[in-house]
Amino acid sequence: MTEQTRVVIVGAGPAGLMLAHLLQMQGIDSIVLESRSREYVEARIRAGVLEQGTVDALAEVGVDDRLRREGLVHEGVEFTFGGRRHRFDFRELVGGTITVYGQHEVVKDLIAARLDAGGDIRFGVSEVALGDLTGDRPRVSFRHNGELREITADYVAGCDGFHGVCRRHIPEERLTVYEHTYPFAWLGILAEAPPAQDELVYASHEDGFALFSMRSPQITRLYLQCDPDEDADAWTDEALWAELHKRLESADDGFRLNEGPVLQKNVAPMRSFVCEPMQYGRLFLAGDAAHIVPPTGAKGMNLAVADVRVLAGALEERYRSGSTGALDEYSRRCLRRIWKVQRFSWHMTSMLHRYPGRDAFARRLQLAELDYFTTSEAGRRVVAENYVGLPL
Ligand code: APR
Ligand code: PHB
Repeated sequence: MTEQTRVVIVGAGPAGLMLAHLLQMQGIDSIVLESRSREYVEARIRAGVLEQGTVDALAEVGVDDRLRREGLVHEGVEFTFGGRRHRFDFRELVGGTITVYGQHEVVKDLIAARLDAGGDIRFGVSEVALGDLTGDRPRVSFRHNGELREITADYVAGCDGFHGVCRRHIPEERLTVYEHTYPFAWLGILAEAPPAQDELVYASHEDGFALFSMRSPQITRLYLQCDPDEDADAWTDEALWAELHKRLESADDGFRLNEGPVLQKNVAPMRSFVCEPMQYGRLFLAGDAAHIVPPTGAKGMNLAVADVRVLAGALEERYRSGSTGALDEYSRRCLRRIWKVQRFSWHMTSMLHRYPGRDAFARRLQLAELDYFTTSEAGRRVVAENYVGLPL
């Protein structure tokens, strides 16, 4: 059976779901296809820092009630290194704030609101394949509840993450891939313990990076730099806490982590990746399908939301005026901002982590860089401006 819609959206992560909402506001129909179950995508723990622009986008689509109630508004973050802790005051430096609210909570809210509004999201699809992307009427075939189905549409939005299928439908010779892998990873834990303080702490310690973050007034989120091939289960809770205390409390200024039962442990690789362009015929890539940033600075979801804001605006123009001008500019416009955010994520990562094999000279340079960016007014503004989020 062949169905029809205006936009097929592949992937129900933040990019795909937010795009469906933004299109609905303009009266543009879409169908979202997701390979996982609703339960799976709602439980997937990812980062949790929202830029102001991301909060604004959620407000624009009317999905900010719970975020306003439960999100934690932060006016700064801290860096610890060389025995001292330094604070970046976002309000004072750039007049902005960030909101701490888990990505899976955003996903839960977007799914609930979409289904309430009668939106079409198909979970548990398989064998997704795209066809006729360079024609007027692209096709997407897939299997759902055992049946093979097909949808024809005006456009396809590839919002299916880094491991998705959409990017692979772009001929290799049309795509340029830029990639960088880091010689370390993050071991992340979720602990049932009240956060020790309100703001995040990024620590650059002689034994490696660590990060103190949170999810709620009862849940602390912590990360430790580790080797990429490390097994999370090989770490006992005692060993984890000892390492976290050592790296995060090195300023000896009274900051003490609260301990509690470890609810979850996982190792995440660190990668920078961009593919150009983000368009092929009537296929438009958005979010992790087109780019990955290392998590230092928590830009992944924010970048995904920024992409679909641009894409939704361009599709709106196309349906309102018939002009494809903004769609033709989509990739170039997104990439300009994406590369600046790549630069920031790479800079935060390289400034704060220990690189295996680097010498003492390199470490002294790194400490000087941290000293500069935490004490110079210009340096502090650079970090703050990027952290709260660059304009679209
Ligand atoms: N068909 C349908 N859905 C697919 C397919 C496929 N072949 N492959 C992957 N998916 C789904 C995934 O299950 C996932 O739910 O696409 C969705 C992609 O969502 P995300 O990975 O969350 O990507 P995105 O929406 O771009 O959001 C980026 O997510 O990975 C984090 O750190 C990243 O915070 C960033 C954010
Ligand atoms: C998180 O809370 O998961 C988090 C916070 C800040 C980061 C990365 C992850 O830079």
